[in-house]
Amino acid sequence: MTTPLLEVDDLQTHFHLPHGTLRAVDGVSFTLDAGRTLGIVGESGSGKSVLARSIIGLLPMAQARRAGGRVLFAGRDLRQLSESQMRQVRGRQIAMIFQDPLTSLNPVMTVGRQIVQVLRQHTDLSTAAAKTRAVELLNEVGIPDPKQRAGEYAHRMSGGMRQRIVIAIALACNPRLLIADEPTTALDVTVQAQILDLLRRLQDRHAMALILITHNLGVVAEMCDDVAVMYAGRIVEQAPVGDILERPRMRYTHALLQSVPDIDTPSHARLPVIPGQPPNLIAPPVGCRFAPRCGFRQDRCEGEVPPQREAGAHHRFACFNPAPEH
Ligand SMILES: Nc1ncnc2c1ncn2[C@@H]1O[C@H](COP(=O)(O)OP(=O)(O)OP(=O)(O)O)[C@@H](O)[C@H]1O
Ligand SMILES: [Mg+2]
Repeated sequence: MTTPLLEVDDLQTHFHLPHGTLRAVDGVSFTLDAGRTLGIVGESGSGKSVLARSIIGLLPMAQARRAGGRVLFAGRDLRQLSESQMRQVRGRQIAMIFQDPLTSLNPVMTVGRQIVQVLRQHTDLSTAAAKTRAVELLNEVGIPDPKQRAGEYAHRMSGGMRQRIVIAIALACNPRLLIADEPTTALDVTVQAQILDLLRRLQDRHAMALILITHNLGVVAEMCDDVAVMYAGRIVEQAPVGDILERPRMRYTHALLQSVPDIDTPSHARLPVIPGQPPNLIAPPVGCRFAPRCGFRQDRCEGEVPPQREAGAHHRFACFNPAPEH
């Protein structure tokens, strides 16, 4: 068996808050092969962004702690690396587009200089060569007049343009893995389609692996090979995209998909809202975390954590009373 590009094993990330320990990521495991796209879906607060940041070791605040687990990238345990080794990995091997990309650009530096800075930091290119490459990158991500745009500031550009610039910066060093946290959420449907198309083309060209966090099941259907569904800090079901969309087993996934009117219509495909409140991650339910909201719960769902079960090749889910296979 070949080593997967990314292997996440029992990852735990906690926030130590004044009123208790919040388990934002609580035992997440998955693997991702080179060139593949994994979609991560789940309702707001389920831990998607914290998971993404935990993988690259950029947690948002001092209270955040890695509480356990391993992240292997090309067989190397990222959690054993020093901060300076990790900085080399980020940017060069793994790039991330953050959930609030429009604020992640530097307002006082031209977009060209921002790209040059990344290239100079992570490659051997001279300043002149980096400048040329920056213009090429802007061209690659579909910025018209790239030479002129390179000398401008991000705040003068539209949301779609800025998002392309964020992508150009992320892709500057041809990363082997791109983690994109809701990369198109703030954009209108046409620009969203263009950005996704761009990501797909760049991915094909560079055989890059992609983790795509999204609320949009239309995006999942269109872009992903595999999907992981998060609920309250855990992955409750993961499978090839066709299995998730057509044969969901875990009751939360099933409920989500049943309430989607039409997956092929992007504007209708936002993750539906399931009645009830997500659990408090400081004192989550002891058994299945979805049990309090689940119409199919049995007694043991509230007392025992359902183990991961197999449902065919690469399809796993955690549910005591799953939806039947059709
Ligand atoms: N800086 C922080 N301090 C304390 N708790 C946090 C912090 N960031 C996230 N959390 C908590 O961690 C949990 C997971 O948050 P996360 O941002 O990963 O959710 P998400 O799935 O990305 O949601 P969304 O879909 O809204 O982006 C939530 O309960 C959230 O309240
Ligand atoms: Mg998020």
